[in-house]
Parts: sequence; structure tokens; C-alpha cells
Amino acid sequence: TCVLWLEEVSSTQDVAKEKELPSGCVVVANRQLSGRGRRGRRWFSQEGGLYFSLLLRTAPIRDEQTITLVAAHAVCRFLQKEGVHASIKWVNDVYVKGKKISGALAERSKDKLILGIGINVNQGSFPEDVPAISMRMVTGKEYDKKRILLELLGFLEEDIRLLMNKGFSPFRDVIEERLLFLGEEVIVEDAGDITVGLLHHLGEDGSLVILTADGYKRILAGDVSLKS
Ligand code: BTN
Repeated sequence: TCVLWLEEVSSTQDVAKEKELPSGCVVVANRQLSGRGRRGRRWFSQEGGLYFSLLLRTAPIRDEQTITLVAAHAVCRFLQKEGVHASIKWVNDVYVKGKKISGALAERSKDKLILGIGINVNQGSFPEDVPAISMRMVTGKEYDKKRILLELLGFLEEDIRLLMNKGFSPFRDVIEERLLFLGEEVIVEDAGDITVGLLHHLGEDGSLVILTADGYKRILAGDVSLKS
């Protein structure tokens, strides 16, 4: 595998965009000064976590959102193998015990698709206002980040290949099984547009289907939270 492992960067997404790397290469950093998440949010990137961007040049993937959902699923499969049971908070977040352990972000730049993954591995704690958890905080173990990277890449590559060959349908059921808030009353917020209802199921295309007072509504983008 082609891996460029750096100590500190602004964001591995930017390094992967700027460098002329072959498809399949990975840019990893121990720290990011401006790690970012979806919708311009910040991704807390202190020492101890694993932060990487996988460069895909050939990916004929139309929508960035589906690949982040599939990536979140690959992270869950990896975590399961490590004895950590995780759920997917639609569309790109991985949660354990109500806290975020990992997130995925896909960005396009010309002919490149850059899939960024952040996973909390060896951090011992987080600031109080950051609702996050690490693998170590769950299991009490310290992990070798090189091993984590290589094994996680195995799951990711397998799932991305399946997505490219067969589309989203092989993932629908398994992702729905891991979906956080399934069958619960939720609020979905998308750029000021609010939908309230029961998280009914995951659509064939990976969209969220919400049962509202006016019937079923298909959600293609937004942030889901539990209705309190
Ligand atoms: C999210 O929570 O919305 C996604 C978080 C993605 C974070 C990863 S860490 C590696 C890569 N570099 C970044 O700046 N972001 C992604």
C-alpha cells in the first residue's frame, strides 16, 4: 500500500488534494491543525487519533454521501472485530455509547475523490464540550495505529469495491441494522429546513425515510438528532 505518514498537517484532505499521488494512496497524520468534518464543522484532531485521507481517482461514484455512509459501515465492521460495537449516525458518523468515535468526509477535487476518515484510537479523554470517545476509552487497551490503519483500509477497500460493482443495495440491510435512532422520533435539520417524525427505515439509495404527520418523507441530506 502507498502510505504517506506525516507528523502534523493542516488537514490530510488538503495534502491529498495538492500532492500528485496515485489512486489508492493514503495520507496519514498524527495531528491536524484544522481537521474538518461535514458542513464546515471542525474535527478535533489531537495526538492519539488516526486521521487519514484515501485518494480515489478512478471512483465513478456519483454522490459523495453514499461513499461516506459505506465508509462508516466499514469502520463499524472493523470496530466489531476489535470487540467494539458501534452504530451509524446517518450519514457519516460512527457512535459508541452515545459518543462519536469516528467520522467520514468525502470531497471531490477535479478527477479525485478524497475520502477522509478520522477515528479516535488512543486518546485518554476529550475536553468536556467534545462528546467523543476513543477505542482505548472503550476497551482500556492501547493500540498500534499502523495496524489499525492497514486493517481498516482492508475493510474500506472491500466495501468501496462492492459499492462500485453492485451499488448500494448490498449495504441497505446491514447499514439499517446499525442505524442509530431507527424507530425513534427524530428531528432532521437541513440548512434551516426541519423535519420531525419517526425514523422509519433506510431507503434503497441510502436516504432516510421519515414518517411525518404528512406521511413519508425522504431525506437526502441533513443532521439527525433525537427529538427530546
Ligand atoms: C465528520 O465528522 O463530519 C467527518 C470527520 C472527518 C475527519 C477526517 S480526519 C482525516 C480527514 N482530514 C480532515 O480534515 N477530515 C477528515
